[in-house]
Amino acid sequence: MTTLTINGEKRAVKSPPDTPLLYVLRNELSVMTPKFGCGLAQCGACSVLADGEEIRSCITPISALAGKEVTTVDGLPARWAKLKGLASDPERLHPVQQAWVDEQVPQCGICQFGMMIKVTELLEHNSKPSDADIQAALTTSGPSPHLCRCASYAAIRDGVHRAAQIMAQGGGQ
Ligand code: FES
Ligand code: FES
Repeated sequence: MTTLTINGEKRAVKSPPDTPLLYVLRNELSVMTPKFGCGLAQCGACSVLADGEEIRSCITPISALAGKEVTTVDGLPARWAKLKGLASDPERLHPVQQAWVDEQVPQCGICQFGMMIKVTELLEHNSKPSDADIQAALTTSGPSPHLCRCASYAAIRDGVHRAAQIMAQGGGQ
């Protein structure tokens, strides 16, 4: 039995310790926002945060996550509320989620949960990224570029700038 902390909640997991986190999230814990794209750390669809850093959950065994705080897109609103000391509000989105709505970023949507995770990591380190910073975060900072088969890259870039703006104004709605 392994205990994981997922979106602030301790979860007891029966899967063997070498099971990749993605399979545990989706098949055992019904956390469905991380997607299976390639299974080889080559696309970013499965990305989650572990102690604030993006990891590819398709290749990360749960044994590597003991004592770490795992955050999926489901946990972003609570992460933002905690960071800003805001009262809990089930209606409030994380600024990145709000920006994705405002800019109508997703097309098919499969890649977008990983994109939002990567962008959250970026904005927690760099509150006003340039286009070059955004491109670097999404292409060269991880094990592979984050891939979007629908080629929504321009909308993603606009979404990042919008999220930075929302953050600078104090938060989601
Ligand atoms: S499914 Fe994990 S990087 Fe593609
Ligand atoms: S929105 Fe379809 S793969 Fe990115």
